[in-house]
Amino acid sequence: MSTVRFATDHPYDVEIEVGALQKLPGLVTGATRVAVIYAEPVSEVALEVSRLVGSASVSVLSVGVPAGEAAKTPQILASCWSALANAGFTRSDLIIGVGGGATTDLAGFVAASWLRGVRYLSVPTTVLAMVDAAVGGKTGIDLPEGKNLVGAFHEPGGVIADLDLLRTLPDREVRSGLAEVIKAGFVRDERIRELVAVSPAGALDVTSARHAELIRRAVQFKADVVATDLRESTSVGSAIGRELLNYGHTMGHAIEAWENYRLRHGEAVALGMIYAAQLSRRLLGLSDEAVSHHRELIGSLGLATSYRRAPFAELRELMGRDKKTRGAALRFVGLRNLGDPAIIAAPSERVLEECYAELAHE
Ligand SMILES: NC(=O)c1ccc[n+]([C@@H]2O[C@H](COP(=O)([O-])OP(=O)(O)OC[C@H]3O[C@@H](n4cnc5c(N)ncnc54)[C@H](O)[C@@H]3O)[C@@H](O)[C@H]2O)c1
Repeated sequence: MSTVRFATDHPYDVEIEVGALQKLPGLVTGATRVAVIYAEPVSEVALEVSRLVGSASVSVLSVGVPAGEAAKTPQILASCWSALANAGFTRSDLIIGVGGGATTDLAGFVAASWLRGVRYLSVPTTVLAMVDAAVGGKTGIDLPEGKNLVGAFHEPGGVIADLDLLRTLPDREVRSGLAEVIKAGFVRDERIRELVAVSPAGALDVTSARHAELIRRAVQFKADVVATDLRESTSVGSAIGRELLNYGHTMGHAIEAWENYRLRHGEAVALGMIYAAQLSRRLLGLSDEAVSHHRELIGSLGLATSYRRAPFAELRELMGRDKKTRGAALRFVGLRNLGDPAIIAAPSERVLEECYAELAHE
């Protein structure tokens, strides 16, 4: 059994184990009604959630939403609000989000916005949601003008990461989620790097003890970062707060957007981490071996390690528009050594472009 505590102003626990779902009835106390907002592909899980919640004498409203990003729209958000309004949901009721990160982002934002905020629990069903999207308190939806433009910080009252729910997850989603896990390895946790290096196949096997340890360690990493900087406010100058979670994301987001989201988030972040490692080699003295280690570990998980499709100028423009950019200058999380992060502020245009050329190498 494994519990990771998020020691923020409103502390909560992430329960990570096979069968963790059984803890749900104990978490819904005090509510008279519960809305289960779930992604259609995991309707079976939602049924089980409803059954468990119903066993605690709570009435359940089921709200199915489309799979993935199609749920993070103002229209689907409004349909969720209508469902709550029609059922007469009050401040003392509870919302549970069941699905991947897109669904938990939406459900969390429904909870953040309904009556200015009601209690929220999340049941992530993808690796990415367990280690990143569903933990840490960020919620939101997309607009036609861009991803995640509307949202709120709204921390869950608890997160149930039942590893059994990952059994139906397609391989591509597992690989993509592991990119965020290995990010925690590059910027902090050496044991994550070891666990993947010794057996990439074991890391990819969602039924293995190795996979469970990787998830737990990645959640612990996020908990440690978020506890010191929930709202990404300490990342100024050379200090690194929540921004640390952004390793690989500046270039990753640009590639993701250029590809019009045909790549999974983790696939783009994996490329972004190799790019950040190359920048770090040029600007922070990261060793050649450490850059090679990035390629080896990422490649061992079946993720691409080279990229050249987009013209650099277009990626540069997208990086400049990233909502985390401050003013005109770009800011990257880089590494002096594995596990030793540092900020790269305003790198020269020449270095940016040369490192992109290096990303094309197999
Ligand atoms: N809030 C945050 O801090 C944060 C952080 C990272 C990412 N995100 C968001 O998370 C989203 C990506 O999350 P994701 O990768 O989990 O994608 P996703 O929610 O789109 O899920 C991927 C696909 O897998 C399906 N699926 C989910 N669980 C399944 C299961 N157990 N078995 C079979 N199929 C299943 C989904 O329905 C979907 O089709 C993006 O919207 C991103 O913006 C948020």
